Amino acid sequence: MGAGKSTVGARVAEATARPFVDLDRLIERRHGPIPELFERGEAEFRQLEEGILAEVLAGPDSVVALGGGAVLSPLSRERLRLRAFTVFLDVTADAAWERVRGSDRPLAQQEADFRRLYESRQQVYAETADAVAETAEDVLLAALGIRFGRMVTPAGPVELVADGHVLELHAAPLEAPVHALPPGEEAKSRAVVERLWTELRLGREGTLVAFGGGSTTDVAGFVAATYLRGIRWVAVPTTLTGQVDAAIGGKTGINTADGKNLAGAFHFPEQVVLDPGVLATLPERERRAGMAEVVKTGLLAGRDLWELPEVEMIRACAAYKAGVVLSDPYEREGRRTWLNLGHTFAHALEAGSGYRASHGEAVALGLLAALRLSGQPTDPVEEVLRPEPVEADLDWAWAALKRDKKGEGVFVLLEAAGKPVVTTVPDAEARAALAALIRQ
Ligand SMILES: NC(=O)c1ccc[n+]([C@@H]2O[C@H](COP(=O)([O-])OP(=O)(O)OC[C@H]3O[C@@H](n4cnc5c(N)ncnc54)[C@H](O)[C@@H]3O)[C@@H](O)[C@H]2O)c1
Ligand SMILES: [Zn+2]
Repeated sequence: MGAGKSTVGARVAEATARPFVDLDRLIERRHGPIPELFERGEAEFRQLEEGILAEVLAGPDSVVALGGGAVLSPLSRERLRLRAFTVFLDVTADAAWERVRGSDRPLAQQEADFRRLYESRQQVYAETADAVAETAEDVLLAALGIRFGRMVTPAGPVELVADGHVLELHAAPLEAPVHALPPGEEAKSRAVVERLWTELRLGREGTLVAFGGGSTTDVAGFVAATYLRGIRWVAVPTTLTGQVDAAIGGKTGINTADGKNLAGAFHFPEQVVLDPGVLATLPERERRAGMAEVVKTGLLAGRDLWELPEVEMIRACAAYKAGVVLSDPYEREGRRTWLNLGHTFAHALEAGSGYRASHGEAVALGLLAALRLSGQPTDPVEEVLRPEPVEADLDWAWAALKRDKKGEGVFVLLEAAGKPVVTTVPDAEARAALAALIRQ
C-alpha cells in the first residue's frame, strides 16, 4: 500500500506496450468498492482477489499492480512464481503512510495498525519478489536481468569467453577457465564458434560468461544458444555500445560469407552486468560509436539522454531498450524495428564504403538522414556526433539499401521526438538523402 504500484506499473506498461491491470480497480469494477467488500470480511475479499489474479495471469502478457495483501495467499504466490516476474517496490513505512493516510483503504485507517501490517508483510514480500525496485526504470532493467556492479555468481560450473584485448586491460569478472577470443568483430566467425563448441567442458547446468564488447557478447551468446542445445549465459559488456545496446535484448549471432549477423539466435542472458568503470580504457573511436547509439536511443525516447552523467545515461539507454525489447521480445510485432533508427542508411554507407566507414560514423550519418526525412531538427546529431560525409559509392550504397531486410522503401522515422514510426519513403527522396551523406 502506498508504494507507488499504480504509477510505476502504468509507466512500465507504457514502456513495454503491455496492458496495465490494477488488480484492486478490476475487483472494484466487478464487485463494488473495496471498503464495502471488506465489510463482508477480509477472507471473502482475499478469495475474490485470488481468483481474479489467477484469471489475469492466464491472460495476455501484462503489467499487473497487485494489492498489498494479494501475495499473502500461498496459491497466488505459487502462480506468480510460475507465470510472472514479480517486483517488490520498496518504500519506507513513513513514505507509504504519508501516501495512504486519509484514504478509504480499509487497512490504512489507523497509523499504528498500518505500521504493524507493513512490518508483518516485509518478509513475505522479500520472499515472493524476483527483484526489488523503486522506479519504473529499475523494473525494466530488473526484468531483463540488467544490473550495475557485481555479477550474481552463477550456480554451477562457469567458463569465461573473453575478448583477448580486454583481458589484457581488465581483470576478469570472476575466476573461471578462460577462452580468449580475437579482439572485436573478428571473433564473430564460424571458426570461433566451432572452436568454443569443442573447447567448452560445461554440462547443461553450466553457465558461460561473456566479457568484451558487442562482438564478444554476440558470438558467446550464440555459442550459449547452440552448445548442448542451449545453456545459460551472462553478458558483461565492456564497450559503451555493448552496455547501451548490443548486450541487451537476447539477439546473438555471427557473420557469414554473405554478410553481418546472418546466422544467430534469440537467447536471453540470465544477467547483463554493467560496470561503467571498464569504459575508462575505451579508445575514442569506440566511445564515439557508443555515443551514436546513445543519441539514437535519446531520439527514440524523446529525451536528451546524451546530456546525462555517464552512469545515468547508460542506465536510461539500457532501460529504454529493455522496454522496447519487452514489448516485442522476438521481433514479431515490429516494435523492435524502432531500434533500427538511422540504421538502414548506416548499413548502406558501410557497404557502399567497402566497410571503410565504421558503424558508429555510419549510424551518426544515418540518424542525420532519418531526422531530415522526418522534418525534425538535426542539431542533437550535429552537436553531439559531428558526422562528416564519408567516401562511398552511391550506386553501391543504394543497392545495399534496397536489399535492406526491413523491406523495400521501409524506414524508421520520427513523427516527433520520442514518437518513432515505421513508414515508406519514395525512392527519389531516400536516394537524395543517402547522396547527401556521401562526400562528392
Ligand atoms: N546483438 C545486438 O543486439 C547488437 C546490437 C548492436 C551491435 N551488435 C554487434 O556488436 C558488435 C560491435 O560491438 P562493439 O561496438 O561493442 O565493439 P567490439 O566488441 O567489436 O570491440 C571493438 C574494439 O574495442 C575493444 N574493446 C572492448 N572493450 C574495451 C575496453 N573496455 N577497453 C579498450 N578496448 C576495448 C575490442 O578489443 C575491440 O578492439 C557488432 O558486431 C554488432 O553487430 C549487436
Ligand atoms: Zn548500431
